[in-house]
Amino acid sequence: MAITIPDISLNDGTTIPQLGFGVFQIEPKDTVAAVTTALETGYRHIDTAEMYGNEAEVGEAVRMSGLDRGSVYVTSKLNNGFHRPDDARKAFDSTLAALKMDYIDLFLIHWPLPTLYDGDYVSTWKVLEEFQRDGRARSIGVSNFQVAHLERLAAEADVVPAVNQIEAHPYFGNDEVRAYGREHNILTEAWSPIAQGKVLDDPTVVDIAGQLDRTPAQVVLRWHVQRGDIIFPKSTTPKRIEENTRIFDFELDDTAMERITALNRGEAGRQGPNPDTFAYVPR
Ligand SMILES: NC(=O)c1ccc[n+]([C@@H]2O[C@H](COP(=O)([O-])OP(=O)(O)OC[C@H]3O[C@@H](n4cnc5c(N)ncnc54)[C@H](OP(=O)(O)O)[C@@H]3O)[C@@H](O)[C@H]2O)c1
Repeated sequence: MAITIPDISLNDGTTIPQLGFGVFQIEPKDTVAAVTTALETGYRHIDTAEMYGNEAEVGEAVRMSGLDRGSVYVTSKLNNGFHRPDDARKAFDSTLAALKMDYIDLFLIHWPLPTLYDGDYVSTWKVLEEFQRDGRARSIGVSNFQVAHLERLAAEADVVPAVNQIEAHPYFGNDEVRAYGREHNILTEAWSPIAQGKVLDDPTVVDIAGQLDRTPAQVVLRWHVQRGDIIFPKSTTPKRIEENTRIFDFELDDTAMERITALNRGEAGRQGPNPDTFAYVPR
C-alpha cells in the first residue's frame, strides 16, 4: 500500500513533508542502504548534517534512487566549528559538494553556541540569509535555538527562520520553545521523536498502543503529527523504517493525546545537551 505523507507550509512559501528520515548515528558505510530503503518505502525527506559525516552517502542514495531531485527534500546543517561568516560560506560550499547537489531544500544552524563566538549567532544567521538569496538554500532555519535566541534573531535579522529543529518527545515536551514558534510562524521539527527508543516501553504508551493495535513507536510518532510538528525518526532496520510510515491511517483521541502529553518530565526529560551551555566543537 502506497503511503501519502502530508506536506506542511513554511513561512517562506515552500512546503516540507511532515515525515522524513533522520540519519544521525548511521555510519557512512550503512547510509546508502538505509536511505535507499527509506526512499523505496516512500520517504521523500532526509535529515542529515555535516556533523553526521554522511552527507555524501545521502546524496549518493538520492541519485541512485532515480527520483527527480525536486521530489526529495534534503536538509543539512552548519557544523559548530564554522560559525564565523567566511567559514560558514566555505562549509556550505562543502555541504553542497558532498551532496553533489546545486541547492539544498533546508539549511540550518545546528546549535546556537551562545557561549562561543562571543555569543554571535546573528552574523552566522545573516550568512544563511545570503544562501537563501542566491537560491542555493530554498529555506533556512535554526536548530536547538531557545526562546531568547529566537527573540534576538527577530530583533537583529531580516529573515524569520522557517523552522527550529529541537529535541521533543513525550518525556521532554519543550513546549515553551514550541509555543514561541507557533506564535511567530516558525515550524517546529522534533528531533529524537521517540527519545532514541526510551519512550517505547513506557506503560502509558504501551497501553495506548495495545488499545489501538499499533506499535508504541507509531503511537508516539502519531502524537507528534497531531501536535503539528515535523519528525524524522532514524532507523537502520528495514521493518522499522516501514513501520514508522504507518502513522497517517489512524488517530489518537483527545484522551490518548493528553495521556501522552502528561508524560512530560520537563528539563529532567531532556536526553540531549542543553543548548544554553552546549559548546562542543568537533576537531
Ligand atoms: N538537530 C539536532 O541537534 C539533532 C539531534 C539529534 C537528532 N537529530 C535528528 O533527528 C533524527 C531522529 O533522532 P534520533 O536519531 O536521535 O532518535 P530517534 O529517531 O528518536 O530514535 C532512533 C532509535 O530508535 C530506534 N527505532 C526507530 N524506529 C523504531 C521502532 N519503530 N521501534 C523500535 N525502535 C525504533 C532506532 O533503532 P535502529 O536504528 O536500530 O532500528 C534508533 O536506535 C536524527 O536522525 C537526526 O536527523 C537532530
